[in-house]
Amino acid sequence: MTPVLGIIVVAAGSGSRLGAPEPKAFASLRGVPILERALHGVFESVEPAQIVVVAPASHLAAARSIADRVAGAASASVSVVVGGETRQSSVAAGLAALSPDVSTVLVHDAARALTPPLLFDRVVRAVRETGGGIIPALPVTDTIKRVGPDAEVLGTVDRSDLVHVQTPQGFPRAELAVAYAAAQDDHTDDAALFAAAGHRVSTVEGEARAFKITTPWDLRRAENVLGAQTAGLRVGTGVDVHAYDESAPLWLGGLYWGGEPGLAGHSDGDAVLHAICDALLSAAGLGDLGSRFGTADPRFADAASEVFVRETLALVRGAGFEVVNVAVQIVGVRPKIAPRRSELEARLSGLLGAPVTIGATTTDGLGFTGRGEGVAALATALLTASV
Ligand code: CTP
Ligand code: MG
Repeated sequence: MTPVLGIIVVAAGSGSRLGAPEPKAFASLRGVPILERALHGVFESVEPAQIVVVAPASHLAAARSIADRVAGAASASVSVVVGGETRQSSVAAGLAALSPDVSTVLVHDAARALTPPLLFDRVVRAVRETGGGIIPALPVTDTIKRVGPDAEVLGTVDRSDLVHVQTPQGFPRAELAVAYAAAQDDHTDDAALFAAAGHRVSTVEGEARAFKITTPWDLRRAENVLGAQTAGLRVGTGVDVHAYDESAPLWLGGLYWGGEPGLAGHSDGDAVLHAICDALLSAAGLGDLGSRFGTADPRFADAASEVFVRETLALVRGAGFEVVNVAVQIVGVRPKIAPRRSELEARLSGLLGAPVTIGATTTDGLGFTGRGEGVAALATALLTASV
């Protein structure tokens, strides 16, 4: 199915007011180019779309590799074309690259890098409902004055019907294409050009996070917004190793593995659950398994390791955290993990109430795992501060 939605992301400006060495869309926003941040928002919106990135001639290859990185398997859905001298000519270049199947088009500034994905969906829906142009708008909250040439205040403007507007701006494709082809003047946004061609434009609610990065101050603001978003995240790691014990049953990852050598060690020797507990405790700053549930404690001597997981989760939640996800790597020659990987992931995700993913590897015959003496498990846990 070819998409009937087209999203033009204009990124061909030089960014003179930002003053970065590279064009604005390629400047770094916390280590990731502004264009890449913007495309992540586009790809998180719901409806599949043809995406046209409009880039400076000097940065076509850079734009292509950013697009490929974000699009992954869907990279064929992104075209990259060269922009023009003005924003308007850049949008025109984007329009020319749309596939004939596209009936609704959004025009979006790459410079609005943190635009929430839901805004794309909101604008598309409104275009289809009204058949007209749609722009996201937010009320003007500052008092607005008219000022004369000598800085004298001439009066206060009634701001009750004033809004400031953002992108993505959405339009029926055919009408926008005709309006662009006929445009004589330079317009400040796509909606003005569309309205000048006699079409109706209405607003939907905008989003504060869709602000445009124009000056160094704006870039700093975007960095701070991203910083606040990750401020409550904590990562932790855990490792556990146990030797095989032929006489014991094998419990690994909370599953029973019939016909496999068991693991020696505290409780049932479940290295995966122990590594997960250590990772959770480490992320929460709560020490480790040994210091929390000492081997001396008779309550835990022969306990199934699930008990540790439940106790650990209670401690972590008590310290004000929720589990975001856990990734585990199992190192060893036995048991073979692949045939039961999904069962294992489902079991552990259920136990933790968060996604748990499992990887497995051998060590090419090297070391104690390679010689088949035991199993190692490494876990990484991500926690977020609960609100
Ligand atoms: N844009 C474009 N082609 C142009 C000019 C602007 O594609 N010839 C894009 C910019 O890349 C940006 C968006 O239009 O994503 C909004 O423009 P603006 O914020 O003004 O960016 P610049 O023109 O790059 O910045 P400045 O005006 O400070 O030079
Ligand atoms: Mg500009």
